[in-house]
Amino acid sequence: MVELNAPGSHAVVVEDLVRHFGGVAAVAGISFRVRNGEIFGFLGPNGAGKTTTMRILATLDRPSSGRAEVASYDVVTQSQEVRRSIGMVFQDPTLDLRLTAAENLSFHGMVYGLRGAHLRERMDAVLEMVELAGRRRDLVATFSGGMKRRLEIARGLLHSPQVLFLDEPTVGLDPQTRRTIWKHICTLPDTDGTTVFMTTHYLDEAEFCDRIAIIDHGQIVAMGTPEELKRAVGGDVVTLDSDDPDGLAEVVCKEFQLPCRRSHTGLALDVPDGGILLASLLPLLAGRVHSVGLHRPTLDDAFMHFTGHEIRDEPLDYLAVARSTMRRQ
Ligand SMILES: Nc1ncnc2c1ncn2[C@@H]1O[C@H](COP(=O)(O)OP(=O)(O)O)[C@@H](O)[C@H]1O
Ligand SMILES: [Mg+2]
Repeated sequence: MVELNAPGSHAVVVEDLVRHFGGVAAVAGISFRVRNGEIFGFLGPNGAGKTTTMRILATLDRPSSGRAEVASYDVVTQSQEVRRSIGMVFQDPTLDLRLTAAENLSFHGMVYGLRGAHLRERMDAVLEMVELAGRRRDLVATFSGGMKRRLEIARGLLHSPQVLFLDEPTVGLDPQTRRTIWKHICTLPDTDGTTVFMTTHYLDEAEFCDRIAIIDHGQIVAMGTPEELKRAVGGDVVTLDSDDPDGLAEVVCKEFQLPCRRSHTGLALDVPDGGILLASLLPLLAGRVHSVGLHRPTLDDAFMHFTGHEIRDEPLDYLAVARSTMRRQ
């Protein structure tokens, strides 16, 4: 397939982007493109470099080297044009709690030069979209966490940006509220043609994205649709829950020469056919495991497969003992 390269076909273009803080590369040379109308997710643990990248794209910080374009404008030399083309929802709330929902929006609208009937129309539209029209005259201080987030998303959309940046849009919210927020985010490309660039460290949220870049230690280690990333893991994942994963890994790796990765409950094996493996593996497991599982790869598995550690933990030793000699069955 030929990738279209016509001007404007990509909402975000990033090439060899680097950002150092002192001697540390928070962003260590990343390249990617986000297509117009796409929901694109940056998936990575805390400290991976997600916010730093987003801040550079939103012109709030400058790259140490490399370049980036948003809405076909250069983020360094055309920062004003970039700012007019984007909406931004920060990880930390930035609403004024002493104002009403409508006042928060109209203040933001004026900053972007919206006024009169057009401002009122846009306020009605975005409040409707996030189902807060009935609360427009209420003080934001009386809103729940989920309502505040929805209002921030509405505010980010008020000036009809081409690209909406969302930095961990649902962090700290309960599962029900997260689903509601996602429902709103998912409608954006279809209703307004808005491109969404978001960061998350929630694997279940990354599933909603059209494409994901997995970022770890400032580098993109994999990129693709959720399905593509899962498929790259292999056919099946066999999980072995154990109190002694190291001992178990030795036995399994020695006997089967399979790459094992550590999970928080034991070991996981990425194999072409889990049923075939289990038939010969089970006799070895007596007394060594609490439970055995078999499933199709999830994004959790994909994340571990590509980074060598779980998203919620500090990096674990990657027990890819026999990765290169993996025996296909
Ligand atoms: N202003 C800064 N000064 C120094 N170090 C920073 C600054 N901003 C971010 N970092 C460091 O850069 C790395 C990436 O941070 P960040 O982009 O916030 O990661 P994420 O958003 O993925 O959690 C971290 O190690 C962080 O401590
Ligand atoms: Mg962050």
